[in-house]
Amino acid sequence: MNADGRTRLHQTPEWAALVKHREQLGEVRLREMFAADPGRGTGWTLRVGDLHVDYSKHLVTDETLALLQELAAATGVSGLRDAMFRGERINITEDRAVLHTALRAPRDAVIEVDGENVVPKVHAVLDKMAGFADRVRSGEWTGHTGRRIRNVVNIGIGGSDLGPAMAYEALRAFTDRSLTLRFVSNVDGADLHEAVRDLDPAETLFIIASKTFTTIETITNATSARSWLLDGLGGDEKAVAKHFVALSTNAEKVSGFGIDTANMFEFWDWVGGRYSFDSAIGLSLMIAIGPDRFREMLDGFHLVDEHFRTAPAESNVPLLMGLLGVWYGSFLGAQSHAVLPYSHYLSKFTAYLQQLDMESNGKSVDREGKPVQWQTGPVVWGTPGTNGQHAYYQLIHQGTKLIPADFIGFARPVDELSEELKAQHDLLMANFFAQTQALAFGKTPDEVRAEGVPEELVPHKTFRGDHPTTTILARELTPSVLGQLVALYEHKVFVQGAIWNIDSFDQWGVELGKVLAKRVEPALTEGADVPGLDPSTGALVAAYRELRGR
Ligand code: F6P
Repeated sequence: MNADGRTRLHQTPEWAALVKHREQLGEVRLREMFAADPGRGTGWTLRVGDLHVDYSKHLVTDETLALLQELAAATGVSGLRDAMFRGERINITEDRAVLHTALRAPRDAVIEVDGENVVPKVHAVLDKMAGFADRVRSGEWTGHTGRRIRNVVNIGIGGSDLGPAMAYEALRAFTDRSLTLRFVSNVDGADLHEAVRDLDPAETLFIIASKTFTTIETITNATSARSWLLDGLGGDEKAVAKHFVALSTNAEKVSGFGIDTANMFEFWDWVGGRYSFDSAIGLSLMIAIGPDRFREMLDGFHLVDEHFRTAPAESNVPLLMGLLGVWYGSFLGAQSHAVLPYSHYLSKFTAYLQQLDMESNGKSVDREGKPVQWQTGPVVWGTPGTNGQHAYYQLIHQGTKLIPADFIGFARPVDELSEELKAQHDLLMANFFAQTQALAFGKTPDEVRAEGVPEELVPHKTFRGDHPTTTILARELTPSVLGQLVALYEHKVFVQGAIWNIDSFDQWGVELGKVLAKRVEPALTEGADVPGLDPSTGALVAAYRELRGR
């Protein structure tokens, strides 16, 4: 117990029990565990919605899981979860409710923030988005010159970019192929340049997505986009109303920028940026896939919300995934977590998860503001299979690091593919299954020798195995399945933050860089003296100015 009367996480008996268990367990060999329990392959699986989740290839025993569940109970995960769903202000450093779950609640649900039911507001915005999306899709909404909108450019960054950009890729097979969608996030002018260089301004709609509407990258790009549009359309300011809409919580700033608030789609401060793509931030996606598909996606989210809220601890998938991550990070020393989707359509899924997980759980003080004495969120990384197999899988198989990984795959390719391309799907999935098998069970020196390999090469060709993986398999990648997957990871991240006793919903760590960038900019442009600039950065700025010809 500490001076303030609190017992900290690493001082709890449940934590100590896991430390002891880890010591007693020693080296875990998956071959031995499967030999001792042949039913593990079928028994250690769970189902949530359309997702079949196999956790048999983890370095855990029944006892490990039981002890982890005790840790979850002792740290009050379910209590915090219920407080989140009730709309309590669990984001303590920003004094905000955390209610992304309200964004996908059914119309008749009642979720109150400060005594007000927020569900009607959510559905009013969804209806407004649907009306607008339908008008763009049908051609009823035209540009300033009366031409139909054929290009939609979302300008946003972080949570105002990654979600819709990821989901647009994921659901391409469900999109209106006559529309071109682009996503601009980087303040590097090249991003906007490449996005618009082949577009006709008369047919282009810009969606300016920013929760705060103060993010410098987004406002800078939006300003440049407005100039591009006005240059292309003869300079009539009235064109802005037909070519710019805003997604934000900040009506004042939207109107200050020159966008009519009638063309603004609202969300609220209880939606965190990285939890926002099922809010108004999803407008570009809704235009691409249509309101009905978007609602299917929301239903997928809601299904997993309900599972997380009500399923018993032993069969609660986000809870289990969160606990496994805690096991590897806090007790086995894993520093990173790979997410490896075997779907080209999920090419941006891991990048999306990087913000979700790393901005949420990249914290080093606990909810009381004390330095944590345990590992918090992992480095999340990965790209779609099979590309990764020919790049970095070598290190996962035979390197010195413990890297738990999630493999995500689908039984069916999308309908749109030709028969020949559909036939490739089995090869893709053969790789999917082969990799988790090889990672788990490896290849022993004797097996290598039996292949006639010369003795000096045996160590090089031996695979130790025992690399833990979760396999998530679904029939096909639909809007609902995408919603289910995202909600699964949202709640996994929640579980880990709750156990580590950190605030998973603030992001103060990104502030310092933003403040310093503003301070340094005049030194680059005007050579101004920046008070307090350190000698290293000062010398770099001087080198930059010389190279830039200033
Ligand atoms: O990176 C910091 C951050 O605040 C993210 O949390 C957020 O998603 C992103 O910037 C964009 O913020 P906004 O939507 O307010 O422009």
